Amino acid sequence: MATETIDAYRGASRAIAEQIAPTWARRRGDIEQVMAPVRTWMIRELRPQPGQTGLELAAGVGDTGFEVAGLIGERGRLICSDFSEAMLGAARRRGSELGTSNVEYRAIDGERIDLDSDSVDAVLCRLGYMLMADPAAALAETRRVLRAGGRLTLAVWGAPERNPFFTAAAMALVQRGHMEPPQPGGPGIFAMASEQRTRALLAGAGFDDVRIEDVAVRFAIPDAEEYVQVVADTAGPLAVTLQALPDAERAAVTAQCAAALERCATPSGYEIPGIALCAVAR
Ligand SMILES: C[S@@+](CC[C@H](N)C(=O)[O-])C[C@H]1O[C@@H](n2cnc3c(N)ncnc32)[C@H](O)[C@@H]1O
Repeated sequence: MATETIDAYRGASRAIAEQIAPTWARRRGDIEQVMAPVRTWMIRELRPQPGQTGLELAAGVGDTGFEVAGLIGERGRLICSDFSEAMLGAARRRGSELGTSNVEYRAIDGERIDLDSDSVDAVLCRLGYMLMADPAAALAETRRVLRAGGRLTLAVWGAPERNPFFTAAAMALVQRGHMEPPQPGGPGIFAMASEQRTRALLAGAGFDDVRIEDVAVRFAIPDAEEYVQVVADTAGPLAVTLQALPDAERAAVTAQCAAALERCATPSGYEIPGIALCAVAR
């Protein structure tokens, strides 16, 4: 991407996060229910130890990291970070609800991490790197701030054909002329869906000892209207596009999504499968 395009993308991406932070916070419980297998995988493979310093990048409302904060304990410290102040505000409120006392909240851009080199023991980033304009730079920055031997765990969405939760709405919005098709090679939900690319990005940033696994998730949603509402509350560019649609057009998109999701229908609604690629590296 040209520099101006990259800067425009970063500004738009941050604005989207600011816009959806309130609904992301409201949907926190639903998100954590769907993402539980990914959260469990990431924390198990990160192996946080009492007294360590952990860093969560692109933390959103912070739940993955808060679990790490509990394992690091009072002698340790978790830095909960995001480049969106609104997301960070929601994380701070959630952290105080949980009574965490070893969490520091910082506005940090994952592509330019404002921390000293060799200053953290563990980094986690769930569903963040794929949205960054330059994931190679972000991973190199991650390696720089990690101490020797420190672990990174990350999750990104797997291939589009294995993630109908996103493709049903995305295809309806593209086909009905509300969104451009994604740019090949550009940032977005599926930017790191190729295991080969994610592995190459990690190796290029200086990580060794990389292991990547598919982790399955499941979205249980009662009907097509609620499906569209969940996407409109949480799914980045899809969310803000849906939020701006007039009622009649939203109904047409909903009907198209219902047809696309037919194969996931059950007697009680939809059971939509999904696959995240989870990686651990040192
Ligand atoms: C899909 S949400 C994931 C939030 C959280 N990690 C989770 O899994 O629930 C993506 C998050 O990435 C953040 N983000 C995107 N680009 C970023 C960047 N360059 N630096 C820091 N945060 C970023 C957004 O603000 C948003 O909170």
